[in-house]
Amino acid sequence: MKPAKIAPSILAADFARLGEEVARVEPYVDLLHIDVMDGHFVSNLSLGLPVIASLRPHSKLPFDCHLMTTNPDAYLAEFRAAGADLVTVHIEALPDPTDAADAARAAGLEFGLVLNPGTPFEAVAPFIELCDLLLVMTVEPGYGGQQFLTEMISKIETARNFIDSKGHRADIQVDGGITAETAQRARRAGADVFVAGTAIFGAPDPGAAVADLRAAIDDVT
Ligand code: DX5
Ligand code: ZN
Repeated sequence: MKPAKIAPSILAADFARLGEEVARVEPYVDLLHIDVMDGHFVSNLSLGLPVIASLRPHSKLPFDCHLMTTNPDAYLAEFRAAGADLVTVHIEALPDPTDAADAARAAGLEFGLVLNPGTPFEAVAPFIELCDLLLVMTVEPGYGGQQFLTEMISKIETARNFIDSKGHRADIQVDGGITAETAQRARRAGADVFVAGTAIFGAPDPGAAVADLRAAIDDVT
C-alpha cells in the first residue's frame, strides 16, 4: 500500500476566514481539496478562480481542484494560473477526456478523473493511464455533510485491482462522508487519498481531527 494522504475539503471551512482555517490544518495534511461547483453539473454553487488565487499565497500545500462543472476543460490554464496543482474532472461531463488530459498537462497540471456514485468503473477504465488520480465519489456530489455510500466499497476494490494489475500509477481518492470509520473501510478496499470536509473543519480541533483520521487509516495494514 502507498502511504495515505489526507486532503481537507475547504467546503466545510468558514469562507470568511479561509486563510486561517487552512493554516490550522496545513502542518498535518498532504493536499488541499477545493470543490468548484457551477450550479449546473451539480445543483449547488461554491467558489471559483478568484478564491483559489486569493488563497494561493497563504498555503504551500498542493491545491487539488475538484471540478464539478459542465465544461471543466474550458478553464484549465486559468486554474493553473490561479494556483491549482491538480485538477479532477468528472467522466460524466467529459466522456472522452483525452484532450482535456493533454491540455491539463500542457498547462502544467496533474490530471484526474472522477466517478459519480451511479457511474461504473468501466467508464474510466480506458483513460486510467492518463490519470495521476482517480476520485471515486462516496456521496452524490454537490454538498458536504452527507452519509458515506457503502456500495462504493466494491467500486474502490475494482479500481484498485485494475490499476495494480495494469501497473498504472493513479492514486485512488475517496470523497464524501469520510470519517475515521469510513476511511478505514475505504483504506481496506484500496484507497490512497482521503478527502474530508465536515470531519475536519466541523471538529472543534481540526488538527486533532486529522490526527485521528490518520491514525485510523494507518491502523489498516
Ligand atoms: C461534495 C464534495 C466534497 C465535500 C465532502 O460534492 O466533493 O469534497 O466537501 O464533504 P464531507 O466530508 O462533509 O462529506
Ligand atoms: Zn470534492
